Amino acid sequence: MMHAYRSALLRFNQQGQVLYDEDGVLVIGPDATGRQVVQLAGDYGALQARLASAFPGLAVTPLPGRILAPGFVDLHIHYPQTDVIGSPADGLLPWLENYTFPHESRFGDPAYAAEVARFFLDELQRNGVTTALTFATSHPSSVDALMSEARARGLRLIAGKVLQDRHSPDGVRDETEQSLIDTETLIRKWHGVERLGYAITPRFAPTSSERQLRGAGELAAKYRDVWIQSHVAENREEIAWVHELFPQSRSYLSVYEEFGLLRERAVYAHCIHVDDADRALMRDRGAVAAVCPTSNLFLGSGFFDYAGADRVGHGYGLASDVGGGTSFSPFRTMLAAYYVGREGVAKPGLSLSPQRLWWLHTAGAAQALGLEGVIGNLQPGHEADFLVLNPAATPLLARKTAQARNLDELLFALIVLGDERVVERVAVNGAWAAPVPA
Ligand code: GUN
Ligand code: ZN
Repeated sequence: MMHAYRSALLRFNQQGQVLYDEDGVLVIGPDATGRQVVQLAGDYGALQARLASAFPGLAVTPLPGRILAPGFVDLHIHYPQTDVIGSPADGLLPWLENYTFPHESRFGDPAYAAEVARFFLDELQRNGVTTALTFATSHPSSVDALMSEARARGLRLIAGKVLQDRHSPDGVRDETEQSLIDTETLIRKWHGVERLGYAITPRFAPTSSERQLRGAGELAAKYRDVWIQSHVAENREEIAWVHELFPQSRSYLSVYEEFGLLRERAVYAHCIHVDDADRALMRDRGAVAAVCPTSNLFLGSGFFDYAGADRVGHGYGLASDVGGGTSFSPFRTMLAAYYVGREGVAKPGLSLSPQRLWWLHTAGAAQALGLEGVIGNLQPGHEADFLVLNPAATPLLARKTAQARNLDELLFALIVLGDERVVERVAVNGAWAAPVPA
């Protein structure tokens, strides 16, 4: 079954520049394998003849005043921290100890995990996030709860069981050998099932023994297309702790290198307090950074150095890091990413363009995941995860977007003033997702 929509259309070219058709058309339909993908996308007038010849009789649904855009991709989030948002602490380590670990200990209860998983996926949808790379907890059943629910919704989602066998309280600490067996079982159970993917998930170097890190690296070598996710160089106290625990390692990042945990499809959250040798290691191994600006501002962790990453040339994209992060909304994250760029004391300040911010949360994040050409864009062949945005969703937005003289002004108005009210409808795998009640 084919569907065609006519409205403004936002997508990206190969260089990551926004292509914007004020009067665009998007045709969705099955490919040879039955996946729902973009069949045709571009200016309505230019494509009218092709539309009529390639899809005779196809009705075109008009969406006046709306913008069709790719679903957002969140590169780093914790589904079990949905209820941890807004927990204040004197930085990362007290926040983990006082709020996060006690809360995550509840996810050994499958019914509780399933309830949070449903709420979490509703919240992603409400905010227009169609793919996330998410932590579960150390309990294998927390992965089953999320994967089952994501599968039922047809989502492309990547998740993994947290590995943390030391320096962690009862209730979240796992057992070294069993944690590795559980990880392999979960890889075999979920990785590549429909649109689901698995990520090997050592929480961070301080909470894993050397044996656990080595085992994680062995699994990463055995299952090359499985993702790896962890945290690195977020907070000064955390880094000092890593140096005490791994005195032989040149840097925090090189601990992961030593255990075989830096490779393509490895996504490291934060990467704030790194030097050029670390950045070069990321680049050479094909590992990428998940930039988490609302989290870094909330926990006072520091400011990601975009110019440093670009100078050395490793990949990165945007992420919410809920519940260290304060919002599920990609609009909030893009705005915070802009603030972090502007900060000019800890590092040189710069202005990320709105097109760049949007790319970093869609096609750029997809590229960071190794899913370029699959999600994050609305060029032909991409999977049909897309949004209907209303640029007049609030009185102030309506006023501001009506005055926009060019694409940058329009996108900036949405980034600065937008939130989930802008996201009117969400299509997952070509089908409208059921509206999430407000
Ligand atoms: N480092 C280790 N665990 C966590 C976590 O849950 N959140 C953040 N932001 N950093 C971490
Ligand atoms: Zn995190």
